[in-house]
Amino acid sequence: MSPLSAPQTAPLHAIVMAAGKGTRLKSDTPKVLHDLFGKPLLVRVLETLTTVHAHHPLLAAHVIVGHGRGQVQAVLAASAFPMPVSTVVQEPQLGTGHAVLQVKQAVPDLAGSVLILSGDVPLLRAETVLDLVSAHHRQHSDLTLLTTDLSNPTGYGRVLCDAEGNVQRVVEERDATVTEKAVPTVNTGVYCLNWPTIAPLLDDLTADNAQGELYLTDVIGLAVKKGLTVRTVTLHDPSEVLGVNHRLDLSLCHEVAHQWAMARLMDGGVTILSPATTLIAPEVTVGRDTVIYPGCVLLGDVTVGEGCVIGPHTTLKGEVTIGDGSQVTQSVVSDSRVAAGSSIGPFAHLRDGAAIGSSVKIGNFVEVKNTTVADQSFASHLAYVGDATVGRNVNLGAGCITANFDPIRGTKHHTVIEDGVKVGCNAVLVAPLTVARDACVAAGSVITEDVASGDLAIARPRQSAIAGWVKKVRDALVP
Ligand code: UD1
Ligand code: CA
Repeated sequence: MSPLSAPQTAPLHAIVMAAGKGTRLKSDTPKVLHDLFGKPLLVRVLETLTTVHAHHPLLAAHVIVGHGRGQVQAVLAASAFPMPVSTVVQEPQLGTGHAVLQVKQAVPDLAGSVLILSGDVPLLRAETVLDLVSAHHRQHSDLTLLTTDLSNPTGYGRVLCDAEGNVQRVVEERDATVTEKAVPTVNTGVYCLNWPTIAPLLDDLTADNAQGELYLTDVIGLAVKKGLTVRTVTLHDPSEVLGVNHRLDLSLCHEVAHQWAMARLMDGGVTILSPATTLIAPEVTVGRDTVIYPGCVLLGDVTVGEGCVIGPHTTLKGEVTIGDGSQVTQSVVSDSRVAAGSSIGPFAHLRDGAAIGSSVKIGNFVEVKNTTVADQSFASHLAYVGDATVGRNVNLGAGCITANFDPIRGTKHHTVIEDGVKVGCNAVLVAPLTVARDACVAAGSVITEDVASGDLAIARPRQSAIAGWVKKVRDALVP
C-alpha cells in the first residue's frame, strides 16, 4: 500500500450506501449504527472519507439513508466532518443500484468522479481509497472496482473475468452457479465511477435476480457491454473490506481492528502482556516503554504517555490523557486527565473531567469527579472528591468527602481546597465551601463554613468521659 499521496484536485464526490436494514444482524438498531470500538460503523466510514478529503478534497459526501433514517440522521447531525455531508432518502430500499439511483435523481448536477462506499464496511483505509481514485484517474476508466481474493468468498459478489483477465460482470452469491461460486475474487463494494458515463446505466437496471432487487453490481456488466473502460484494483489485505452482515462479521471486525491496534502499539515500543485479554480502540496512542498488563480496555481518544504502567484490569474510556511515567492500577478513568508521574488506584475512579496534576496519588477506593487536583497532592484512601478545586500539597485523609449535591434542589456546589491544606479522616466538606491555604480540618468534622488560611477547623462534639463506667456496668451484671 502506498503512503498517503499528495493532495489531488480533480473534482470528487462520495456516496455512502447506508439505507439497508441489516436483516441478517437481527437487531432493532439500523445496521450502520452498530458500534465498532465506540463509534457507529457509518461514522468510521465517514472518518475514512475525512482522511481521504485531506488528500483529495471531496466536494460532498452523500449518505443514502432509509431504514431507521431518523436515528441515522441524528447520529450524522451530532458528528462534525470537514467535508459537506448530506443525506439522500431511499424509501423503500430496493437494492444497492436503487440506492445510487436515488442520488442520481436527488442530485441532478452531480458530475466528475464519484466514489462509492458501503456504510457496513468500516475498516477500509483511506490509503486504499486514494489508491483506487488515483488508478481510476491514471487509467481514464469509466468504472474502477476494488477487488480482493478470499479463501472463503461465501456471501460476497464474485468478479467474473474473460480469458484475458478483463472484468465481464459481478454475480451475487445467491445468483451464482457452482462454478461461479468457486471464483475467489470478490467485489468489495468499493467503486470509483466516472459519473457522466456510468449514471445513465442505473436507469437500465432490472430486478431480475434471486433477491428481486436492483443490484449496483449489474452496472459493471452493463458498462462492459457498452464498451466502457472497467478496471479493477486488487487489495492484498482482505481484512480491510470485511462487510458487516452478521454478528460474526461484527466480532471479526473488532478482532481485526484490535490486532491492528496491538501491532501498531507494539511497533511503537509498547509492551502488551496479554493481547488476548486487552481491548484497544483504533484511536488510542501509547508512548514507548509503557507496559499494559492483562485485562485492560482502552476505548476512545485515549493518549497514554511514555513509561507508564497501565493495569491490570484498568479501563481508560472517552477523552483520556495519562502523562509520562504515571501508573493506573485496577481502576476506571473516563473523560479525565492525569499529568506525569502520578499514581492512580488500585480501585480508583476518575470521571467527568477530573484533571490530576503531576506526582499526585489517588489511591484505594477514591472517586474523583469534575475536579482539578494540583501537583503533589494525596487522596490515598476511601474518598469522594466531586466538583472541587484542590491545590498543591494537599492531603485528603481516608474517608474525606466533598458533599457537593443538594438533593432537595437537585443542584451541585463547588468546593475549593487551597494549597497546603490537610483534611483529617472522615471529614465532610459541605459545599459551597472554601478551605483556605495551609488550613487544617480535624478528623470527623462536618465543615459547613469557610475555613480561613492557617486555621484549624474542628466541627464535632467534644469528647467526654464517664469515669469507671465499664466496672460499674460489669458489677451490675453480677447477681
Ligand atoms: C454487496 C454487493 C456485493 C459485495 C458486497 C461487499 C450488491 C448487490 N452486492 O453485497 O457484490 O461483495 O456488498 O461488501 O451491491 N443498501 C442500501 N440500500 C439498499 C440495500 C443496501 O443503502 O436498498 C446499503 C446497505 O445499508 C449496506 C450496503 O448498501 O451498507 C451494502 O448492502 P448489503 O445488503 O450489505 O450488500 P451485500 O449483500 O453485502
Ligand atoms: Ca454488506
